[in-house]
Amino acid sequence: MANDTLKLQAIISHCKEYGFIFPSSEIYDGLSAVYDYGQYGSELKKNIRDYWWKSMTQLTDNIVGIDAAIFMHPTTWKASGHVDNFSDPMIDNKDSQKRYRVDHLIEAYADELEAGIGEREAGSGKQEAKEILETMDRLLAQNDFEGLKKLIEEKNIKCTISGTSNWSDVRQFNLMFSTQLGSLAEEASEIYLRPETAQGIFVNFLNVQKTGRLKIPFGIAQTGKAFRNEIVARQFIFRMREFEQMEMQFFIRPGTQKEWYEHWKETRMKWHLSLGISPDKFRFHDHVKLAHYADAACDIEYLFPMGFKEVEGIHSRTDFDLKNHQEYSKKKLTYFDTELNQHYIPYVIETSIGLDRTILMILSEAYQEEDLSTADKKDSRVVLKFPPMLAPVKLAILPLVKKDGLPEIAKELMSACRSQFRCFYEEKDTIGKRYRRMDAIGTPFCVTIDYQTKDDRTVTIRYRDSMQQERISIDSVREIVEKQIL
Ligand code: GAP
Repeated sequence: MANDTLKLQAIISHCKEYGFIFPSSEIYDGLSAVYDYGQYGSELKKNIRDYWWKSMTQLTDNIVGIDAAIFMHPTTWKASGHVDNFSDPMIDNKDSQKRYRVDHLIEAYADELEAGIGEREAGSGKQEAKEILETMDRLLAQNDFEGLKKLIEEKNIKCTISGTSNWSDVRQFNLMFSTQLGSLAEEASEIYLRPETAQGIFVNFLNVQKTGRLKIPFGIAQTGKAFRNEIVARQFIFRMREFEQMEMQFFIRPGTQKEWYEHWKETRMKWHLSLGISPDKFRFHDHVKLAHYADAACDIEYLFPMGFKEVEGIHSRTDFDLKNHQEYSKKKLTYFDTELNQHYIPYVIETSIGLDRTILMILSEAYQEEDLSTADKKDSRVVLKFPPMLAPVKLAILPLVKKDGLPEIAKELMSACRSQFRCFYEEKDTIGKRYRRMDAIGTPFCVTIDYQTKDDRTVTIRYRDSMQQERISIDSVREIVEKQIL
């Protein structure tokens, strides 16, 4: 792979060609920053979601899961601060009329400097890029819009469409989508598509705590769709307008937030490493400009093909959300701590990871182009080296030929395995071609049924990563696969 931009392009094409991810409503030329998951993409997505859900709810003490509605009472978003604060500083290019998020515009310029695009040599602009990003962070933290505009002008940052630097002033722009609830005949009211799943957890805090008889510290987890009218939506499924989050709010005693914040930073980093990704592909990024609800916050960043970028946020949200919901709803949202004999509004540590970004992370790790040429023959393959537990298909069952009783044996194996994990049956084409197709969708195990199987009930198992093959008993196939996917 020549460079990382090409790698992202190669992943995008591969995802489309092999049924992972398609542009939404493609027959109408697509919808910007909205994507559909195909037959293998939806399996991969489900497997990642299940892995997160299991590690959060089943394997952690005192965390339960819920599934709240996307539509919520409109006052929710007033109380949460999203109506007033969920906005980003934007700037318009007066010539192209194109609107940019200020931080994205400056970051893209810094990325170019770092990559040595233009007349510079690669790496020569690294220090300058670092300084620009530091200045930007400081100006954003101070809400200094004039300063941000000045920075853009000083650096002569240009619009990619018009190629000019004829910029408007910097203004705030709310990212929530709104729609109408009720028919026009009735009194329709404006509601929002949720921009985060977290608020569904906060408004259910007491329902869950009381019905589950939960004692602090405890957590509530949820996965689901969120919607943001991102202005600069780019980089495939990295920044979408409709995406999925996997969030957990951990309710704690006030005053203990620092230690729980550290605990969740460490726990979440361990989760990422459990996916088999090397530690040097991750780093923490502490927020300088804190969101309106946080007293400490950081991102876990992963080294995507386009550089280190946020995949998960960990936020110490104080009692901001519950306190405001109590105020706006006029319903008491306090917890009685029997050990302290005290009522209080709990503090919250949040872990919030984007499912789509995690998919892009897993794809970036898994995607490999391998040269398999020998002295006599040119050969190559594209393989997705997913961890077996995340692979969309775990086992391919391939009769060597479509006759002489081999398909029947293959189908018996299929019946023995399909209730336990996802299998794929195929009898068309040469075995070599079938192996390549399974490599391309990341199937970790292929089993070939041949004439010898009829004599001794053995099959050839072929391992995706090493391409090694061995002869094993057909009766041990299910166990071998099961061991690898737990
Ligand atoms: N409840 C807190 C919250 O929503 P966030 O940092 O805005 O915090 C959390 O979002 C995670 O959601 C991010 O780390 C990212 O993985 C994902 N995310 C946010 N906006 C996204 C978008 N437009 N497209 C895809 N994923 C997004």
